[in-house]
Amino acid sequence: MADQAEKLREMVKEKAKDKKKSRVIAFTSGKGGVGKTNIVANVAYLLSTIGKKVIVFDADLGLANIDILLGLKPKHTLIDVIKKGKKMKDIMLKVNDNFHVIPAGSGVEEMANISEPAFSKIKNDLQEIIKDTDILLIDTGAGISKKVTSFIKSSEEVVVVTTPEPTSMADAYAVIKIASSNYKRENINIFVNMARNQEEAETTYNNLNKICKKFLNKEFKNGGYSLIDKNLSLAVKQQKAIAELYPNSNFTISMKKFINTMFKENLKVRENPIARFFASLFGGS
Ligand SMILES: Nc1ncnc2c1ncn2[C@@H]1O[C@H](COP(=O)(O)OP(=O)(O)OP(=O)(O)O)[C@@H](O)[C@H]1O
Ligand SMILES: [Mg+2]
Repeated sequence: MADQAEKLREMVKEKAKDKKKSRVIAFTSGKGGVGKTNIVANVAYLLSTIGKKVIVFDADLGLANIDILLGLKPKHTLIDVIKKGKKMKDIMLKVNDNFHVIPAGSGVEEMANISEPAFSKIKNDLQEIIKDTDILLIDTGAGISKKVTSFIKSSEEVVVVTTPEPTSMADAYAVIKIASSNYKRENINIFVNMARNQEEAETTYNNLNKICKKFLNKEFKNGGYSLIDKNLSLAVKQQKAIAELYPNSNFTISMKKFINTMFKENLKVRENPIARFFASLFGGS
């Protein structure tokens, strides 16, 4: 009996060694409406198709909408976790076997003005939940309120999304500064969304990185870019991931490339040169 117990303990220890730490990645931006939620939803969807267990946490407290984007109908949200003592895993919504969403509830003032203890409870519950998952993606709200920066502080990896607009870049810089200088985040990636062409995306990254180098004395990784893709709006209207509806669209290909860079995966990207050509001409595909 003693022998068996010893063996079991060893097995558990080995299993614990085998189990890689879950990755926690916050997607944030500074300026709103730059594409965070769409990026998170599609990255999560694509990761789930290659067997990764992914949870998306909707951290846009008070104005959450990733559930709408994916056509999910939450019966319960984080409000029920905070007010009614529900377990976080009981409010999780299933997109598929590998992909779950924790909905935050939208238009709920209590969520927008969440108290410090309630916020801590959410973060503790999240720690529990990620034990059984490979990747937790956090879709933050826009801005640099404490609600947003607190998630940046708790995430090992951060993806700052910007568009080529100077206003968006300035706000992205503000977030990078907080993540890097205040919270000492080491793993910060810049993702340029809604560029008109590759050159504009590269210039945006280079200019933002140059500013960071000048004022923060640090450079940040290039997480990739996506062009403006009109198919995205069609997918949003159908409340499905564009990666599912239009697997060869520009946006989907960009998400695959992002995954290949960030997760060292090898998702096949079948470039569509004609779509690229027209995208660069007209800012769409
Ligand atoms: N590459 C793209 N091409 C075309 N439209 C895009 C692209 N990326 C995002 N959009 C559109 O921009 C709008 C904002 O996207 P999304 O809601 O994902 O942004 P967000 O950063 O999450 O916004 P918020 O700050 O409000 O949470 C949506 O209408 C979306 O369809
Ligand atoms: Mg959003």
